[in-house]
Amino acid sequence: MAASNPAVWAEQTLLRLKQKIPGAIEKAQGLDFLPYTVENGQWKPGPMDGICWWTNGFWPALMWQMYDMTGEVAYLREARRAQDMLDRAFADFSRLHHDVGFMWRISSGFDYDLTGDQKNRERAVFAANLLAGRYNPNGFIRAWNDDKAGWAIIDCMMNLSLLYWATKQTGDPRFSLIAQRHADTVIRHFIRPDGTSEHIVVFDPVTGEAVDKPGGQGYAAGTVWSRGQAWAIYGFAISYRHTGRQEYLRTARRVADAFLARIGGDWLPDCDFVAPKDPVLKDDCAGAIAACGLMEMADALGETGEAYRSAAVSMLRALEEKHVDWSADQPALLTHCTGSYHTADHHIAMVYGDYFFVEGVSRLLGRQNLRW
Ligand code: GLY
Repeated sequence: MAASNPAVWAEQTLLRLKQKIPGAIEKAQGLDFLPYTVENGQWKPGPMDGICWWTNGFWPALMWQMYDMTGEVAYLREARRAQDMLDRAFADFSRLHHDVGFMWRISSGFDYDLTGDQKNRERAVFAANLLAGRYNPNGFIRAWNDDKAGWAIIDCMMNLSLLYWATKQTGDPRFSLIAQRHADTVIRHFIRPDGTSEHIVVFDPVTGEAVDKPGGQGYAAGTVWSRGQAWAIYGFAISYRHTGRQEYLRTARRVADAFLARIGGDWLPDCDFVAPKDPVLKDDCAGAIAACGLMEMADALGETGEAYRSAAVSMLRALEEKHVDWSADQPALLTHCTGSYHTADHHIAMVYGDYFFVEGVSRLLGRQNLRW
């Protein structure tokens, strides 16, 4: 029978994770890539970029969450195996992008936070330097490579965590200042009057003028890509925790209110909130990320934030009841993740959706050790 108390639900879910994840690790070992999605019951890598694929930090991050909740050393060992593989990306650094934040904050950065391991502190500080090197003095962090010198995307709000962490590690304020300049630009140019967010803003890289707001992974230009909203909620809540600046918390709330006004009674976000209702395209990643972001906000708001925590619980439970595959032959958890609206990767497994689902369980258990 389903538990009504969220902490009891989280305890029961952790028991199921402890049964499921060891099989997922067994399937990852011996592979020369890090898990991204699943085909025919086997892990598959990201579709491009090899070891530089942007989600490659989420597998070790999932291991750290499990290690933190269980103390089982097998999770630590698997995280370290993945982190050694990630060194190949440093050797190929011209292909790296702003998602070095995702790749190293929650892999090596979490390792250092939990164990104090110096080698992993070095890796994460090095990655922070790569991210800081992408800063355009017009006030934004460049997202992608090649001819996209002026492109910034909402997803980068999550990468800022690595910069705040690096300032705490090194005592050098540059990293945090870059993060804040970028977040300030996002408030000005990405967040719309109704609290929704653009996915992409293209700036003139020389003058800093915003010249275009094209469609991205959502339905079209001007629509509401749910995962972008989720990155914004969580990213601004993180910026508030690291800086204490109220405008970041206010922005997180505005985007969260817009998200919750659109999610619908099933608590399972559509890939794009204003796309046509047929076909129904869900994105479990957006739900899991937003749930963690709402809980981060609720922690910051105290009693006034309880409605956000309650929404987060509803979202995690809806994912678990309707979209988690607990069977032993499938290594992943979530089944309805969507890469982007107009590509074929709909309703598949994605490692970062699983990561945020597990982080959500850890948060409901009251654990505090691993924070972006
Ligand atoms: N950061 C890319 C995505 O959310 O798909």
